[in-house]
Amino acid sequence: MNHSIVAPDSDSSLLFNRMGDAAMELATARWRSGGEGVGAKALVAHAKIREAPLASEADNPNRRDFLTVAATSWAAVGAAATLWPLVQQMNPDASTQALASIEVDLAPVKEGQAITVMWRGKPIFIRNRTKSEIDAAAKTPIGDLKDGKARNGNLPETAAATDQNRVNKDHANWLVLVGICTHLGCIPKGQALADAKGDFGGWFCPCHGSHYDTSGRIRKGPAPENFPVPPFQFVTDSKIRIG
Ligand code: FES
Repeated sequence: MNHSIVAPDSDSSLLFNRMGDAAMELATARWRSGGEGVGAKALVAHAKIREAPLASEADNPNRRDFLTVAATSWAAVGAAATLWPLVQQMNPDASTQALASIEVDLAPVKEGQAITVMWRGKPIFIRNRTKSEIDAAAKTPIGDLKDGKARNGNLPETAAATDQNRVNKDHANWLVLVGICTHLGCIPKGQALADAKGDFGGWFCPCHGSHYDTSGRIRKGPAPENFPVPPFQFVTDSKIRIG
């Protein structure tokens, strides 16, 4: 069966809406309740712009603006939209839902900015890292890490948690993560401009005090594992497909 994808784009599916925190909380609640992938419309947009970048700020590598973006996308199961009612009625099984993918346009995300998109009911953190963030992650010795595994869905399970193994080798500035704390599942802070980012400049989970670095690796606190890197690939230099 051919599994086609209805990808978000800047004109339609990818929405930059000024929605409230309630949208993200709704998405999180939905994920926690196991609601992901129910029915063929496996992914619904929940997002907002938290800190829309000013043009003058976007060019400043020292200025981090954060966008939280909701992508409305659909996992179109089947070869054509005409199959939609039938598929919806069939309520595809987990193996079919597992194929759900989204495409994300990275072009609007300038260096130092971050966005959040929803994929299969989970928040995906995407950060366009600055050179200093990359350098900080790259120079960290493996021995300093709590979790030595890359946990990159694009690499073998045995891959070590070097920064190189956490990103696409041709696009090392782009960090793509499942943004769920590996302790008890809170959504860590670090995407918004005003957020605390922890002792290592990445993300901070205030629930119990877990600190993640600029490679999304757990460095301090009770969380046991690095943020997973979802399976994804670059479709073009400025667009990725997740899933
Ligand atoms: S859930 Fe993040 S530290 Fe406990």
